[in-house]
Amino acid sequence: MAKIIDGKAVSARVRAQVKEEAAELKANGISVGLAVVIVGDDPASRVYVNNKKKACAEVGFESYEYALPAETTEEELLTLVEKLNNDEKVNGILVQLPLPAHLNETKVINAIRPDKDVDAFHPENVGHIMIGDFSFLPCTPAGVMELIADTGVDVCGKSCVVIGRSNIVGKPMAMLLLHKNGTVTMTHSRTRNLKEICASADILVAAVGKAKFVTADMVKEGAVVIDVGMNRNEEGKLCGDVDFESVKEKAGAITPVPGGVGPMTIAMLMRNTLTAAKRQRQQTK
Ligand code: GUN
Repeated sequence: MAKIIDGKAVSARVRAQVKEEAAELKANGISVGLAVVIVGDDPASRVYVNNKKKACAEVGFESYEYALPAETTEEELLTLVEKLNNDEKVNGILVQLPLPAHLNETKVINAIRPDKDVDAFHPENVGHIMIGDFSFLPCTPAGVMELIADTGVDVCGKSCVVIGRSNIVGKPMAMLLLHKNGTVTMTHSRTRNLKEICASADILVAAVGKAKFVTADMVKEGAVVIDVGMNRNEEGKLCGDVDFESVKEKAGAITPVPGGVGPMTIAMLMRNTLTAAKRQRQQTK
């Protein structure tokens, strides 16, 4: 039976550290602010945004919510981003994705000032991650790295398999594992022999978006299995990409859903926002 990795506990540790540092800044008269922009009324996005605002309050940051109607034009959204770029109280800007279909996500992301881009989605920050010289960590992959570290397993030299190649998770995930000297294989919907490749992994990260996609026969005995999936099953219950019940009998360590990767993404966002505030302060000194 696998060790169940407690994402809530690891997240609480990270947030406690951020809170401590935020209090030190506050003692020196510096407050930290995150602007969260949501366009439209996607219910999942609303939950995420509420959680982000709550996390800000808990660590002692100011949060500024901009809830715009679904009909917002690209020009209006870009004007808001520009205003936030120039607002000194705003250290970090997060535009919740997905945006309604008529808005060009790439254009909006590219308009965010790179030193306020706490999601690390701007091409400049993506480039820094690729090179391995970065200030902002991509939130979900960075959270996964914290969870792997919590298991005590050293990534160096291990066979790491990432399922999924999104810009938000799969690609930066592979980079972070590579920076820790893992031997990384990226897999996706066109990969042949997926089962065999996954079954060779010492560390398996699933970011597919399909409930119960990873079954026990795809997992090596004793492997670390990280489930980034956030799916709803037939009963509307939150479930991951991994068939938790069968895989936990074979893995060495496994993240549950909920309570695994999810809480880590927000913790890393808080850390990035703190980093943004500190960097901006250094630039203006
Ligand atoms: N939508 C789903 N995950 C994310 C995230 O990490 N950041 C933003 N901005 N939108 C998301």
